[in-house]
Amino acid sequence: MSTLAENAMKAGVNMELVMDDGKVQVALMLDRLKNAKVLPIRDDDILLCTYPKSGTHWTWEILNMIVAGKAEYAKHWQNSTWLEYRTKEELETLASPRILHTHLRPSQLPETVWYKGCKVVYVTRNPKDCVVSSYNQLSKQVWKDNPAGKASYTGTWDDFIEFFLKGCIPPVPYFEHAIEWTNISEAKKDFEICRVHYEDMKQDCVREIRRMADYLGRPLSDKTYYDISEACSLMNLKHANEKLKDQTYHFQWQDGASGYFRKGITGDWKNWFTVAQSERFDKVYKERLNETFPY
Ligand code: A3P
Repeated sequence: MSTLAENAMKAGVNMELVMDDGKVQVALMLDRLKNAKVLPIRDDDILLCTYPKSGTHWTWEILNMIVAGKAEYAKHWQNSTWLEYRTKEELETLASPRILHTHLRPSQLPETVWYKGCKVVYVTRNPKDCVVSSYNQLSKQVWKDNPAGKASYTGTWDDFIEFFLKGCIPPVPYFEHAIEWTNISEAKKDFEICRVHYEDMKQDCVREIRRMADYLGRPLSDKTYYDISEACSLMNLKHANEKLKDQTYHFQWQDGASGYFRKGITGDWKNWFTVAQSERFDKVYKERLNETFPY
């Protein structure tokens, strides 16, 4: 019988997937995950933790501006601070306070995160919008150095939703991620996490920036919050990322498509899901998370 990983590859996930501890994993991540678990963490590290496509780039830039105390773009690409992708040596070169981002589950993080007094900002988004965003990215994304010239996903939209629900869409299974992050406050009672929702940032970005700044113990003026919110609008951020930043760690895509700054709206899923697909999603969501789909 085929494994979930094999089925996903047959249906159009063009990455080498393997089963690891009962979960689908990208093969080249196995060593990286082992390394990530023992990375040295600093007392003043700030971790930005997200499920992919939840607004990681957006929030990362906001956090950088809060720490800088002004609406000035960080010079480096956020991928240079990607916890599970960079080596220990690469992360060591970053100046404190480091703003590291990660898609890992709490149990995959270095254990010291919970004892060092670091700050953790956890961002969530309507998972149906994440699926759409992820599908758009993976079905367009062809790495510049990929000789086969194939996108990361070449299957159907319907299969994509199914594989998402089964935890086969890289880099992390959605429900395991959501369950662990939901339960972490109970598991680490003395640890305060700043929970942020993409939808709230869309509704009132200034308010959410202020909340993050207060959590980090770095309050700023109202004008600075406003300036940060403006500098981090979708179009401004897209321009900064494509034109102003050092591109060293920017993934290069063949047609120049950027899945990182696409539509930037809430509710795009309604343009993609059929009623049947949406009902199936809600059903699995309820079974897995034991709650009615909240969006
Ligand atoms: P869409 O594909 O729905 O447009 P991540 O950074 O975690 O990969 O998330 C990418 C998603 O966040 C994309 O969603 C992208 O357009 C959206 N995004 C990026 N910057 C944004 C901003 N400043 N405001 C709103 N959405 C933004």
